[in-house]
Amino acid sequence: MALYAIVSPGGSPGATTSALALALAWPRPVIVAECDPGGGAILAGLFAGHLPAPPGLLGLALEAGRGAEVTTADLVAQLAPLDKGGNRWFLAGIHDPRQALGLAPSWPAIAAALAGHSADVIADCGRLDAVESRPASILAVASLVVLVMRASLRQVAAARPRIEMVTAITGGSARLRLLLVGEQGHAVREIARTQRVAVLGSLPLDRKTAAVLSDGQGRRSGLHRSSLIRAAKVAGLAMIELTAGTAAAGRTVVADPVGARAADHVAVLPARSEP
Ligand SMILES: Nc1ncnc2c1ncn2[C@@H]1O[C@H](COP(=O)(O)OP(=O)(O)OP(=O)(O)O)[C@@H](O)[C@H]1O
Ligand SMILES: [Mg+2]
Repeated sequence: MALYAIVSPGGSPGATTSALALALAWPRPVIVAECDPGGGAILAGLFAGHLPAPPGLLGLALEAGRGAEVTTADLVAQLAPLDKGGNRWFLAGIHDPRQALGLAPSWPAIAAALAGHSADVIADCGRLDAVESRPASILAVASLVVLVMRASLRQVAAARPRIEMVTAITGGSARLRLLLVGEQGHAVREIARTQRVAVLGSLPLDRKTAAVLSDGQGRRSGLHRSSLIRAAKVAGLAMIELTAGTAAAGRTVVADPVGARAADHVAVLPARSEP
């Protein structure tokens, strides 16, 4: 299936919250991978520290550090359930930004494992900076890079160089889309026009649902009826439609050691357990 990289221009526009909203609305098996070199927030946020999860990204880096391929089995061993449905999974990120530098050499192997899994993968890559620890390999092999941003002038200014960075990494803007949180403004239309980037869609401001996803504040029941999750479903379907037929092309950038096995995703996912 496809790998989707979520990035932000900084300023905490809602990249993690949007990645989770997309995953909870996703119509087929999906893994949310916390690849933010600034540190993951889902265990401490959505799960309020209550989910006993495997080491996740660091566990994969350990495999990659041994010089071996990171296989599908390695990836599956590091997943935790995102909800009780059995189709949404979660790869925990680092919890200390100081771990990011040590992780950097492992990104290509981790990216190949994520791109090779039979489920879709939504990788929260956080703020895109010009630093060595950024997960550029994930962007390079992703079927689609989604830049989550608000419509403020400040966000637009911060987005410009990030659009150029994604364009340099992916070899053009064809695999890049903007996802707006809140209202669309004139400035965003302008940046989309001048930098030739298409807008994927928008997610509404929905503080109540966002607080559940980003900080575990409030109840998770009934989330699917919220405006945020309903909009995320529309955005997710647009992402899937955009990448239909292109996922394989994205994967060829980096050698895929595990291959695409669409038929065996049930077999390779870990046994269902409650979060
Ligand atoms: N659609 C939304 N509506 C209302 N509030 C939102 C929305 N999305 C995110 N937020 C809020 O914005 C804040 C930042 O969200 P989040 O942590 O997802 O941002 P981020 O871009 O991942 O930030 P960081 O770069 O720090 O990881 C949180 O308080 C969250 O609840
Ligand atoms: Mg985040």
